[in-house]
Amino acid sequence: MSNQLSYKQYIQEVTLWAEQLETLLGEMRTEDNEAKKSKNEISDLLNLLNSFENEIQYEDIVSIKEKVDILYQDSSSILQTNRQTDERLNLYNGIKIGEHKLPPLPYSYDALEPYIASEIMELHHKKHHQSYVDGLNKAERMMEKARQTGEFDLIKHWEREAAFHGSGHYLHTIFWNVMNPRGKKIPTGKLLNKITEDFGSFDAFKQHFTEAAKKVEGVGWAILVWSTRSHKLEILQSERHQMLTQWDTIPLLVLDVWEHAYYLQYKNERADYVQNWWNIVDWNEVENRFKEASKLQWKPF
Ligand SMILES: [Fe+2]
Repeated sequence: MSNQLSYKQYIQEVTLWAEQLETLLGEMRTEDNEAKKSKNEISDLLNLLNSFENEIQYEDIVSIKEKVDILYQDSSSILQTNRQTDERLNLYNGIKIGEHKLPPLPYSYDALEPYIASEIMELHHKKHHQSYVDGLNKAERMMEKARQTGEFDLIKHWEREAAFHGSGHYLHTIFWNVMNPRGKKIPTGKLLNKITEDFGSFDAFKQHFTEAAKKVEGVGWAILVWSTRSHKLEILQSERHQMLTQWDTIPLLVLDVWEHAYYLQYKNERADYVQNWWNIVDWNEVENRFKEASKLQWKPF
């Protein structure tokens, strides 16, 4: 896909989102200054989006993205505190099974030169990332087929594929967006405070992250994460990246099938343990976790 095409697609998607948001805010019963501010931001954004006719520059995309980020932050907090719209928090429509798409880059392929060559960016995005998207879509469709037919012989294979390609797709989607030739060079505010608290200083964090990245065994990623449990930042390595998880997801229901969890009682009959376990699941807690986790929604791809 050419840059112009992906830019246009991005503009279309942002327009749709801004219009939906405008409707949601319009339906709110109370209107405070915050809501007014967001409405003004929306009309500014829509004016900007409508102003493009021919060639779109990547600087335009960067400035749209900045506006979108601010608007998203401002409007999310308004909508979250507004009970009337509680059930309509879903600003974006989620992805249906097997319908993930390659997200457009928020800049041109040569924008990161000389640090990352244009050729690498193009291959990395068009070929590698696309193959993760395709692989994830296939795995999701095959798992859907297994549920429909009750034929789970290959489930292990498709779970692995979903983890490998899913992590690939989600991590690359984050990766493209955390880079920008004109980005902010150093964090400030709350994030900087938390980095200082959790790592000692920004320099200490940077050194730790650099070393973790250099020392990833084989292929993989260095990842700065937010732990929703310990309310702490942490640096992790993801070797390869699949390890049967999909990064950028939050666990809702988990079942421990390490032998220590059942062996004393069930010996090697893991299947019996799994079957019996369903009798003691508390869906209240799963529902709570779902309710909290689903408040966090990135733009879907
Ligand atoms: Fe990659």
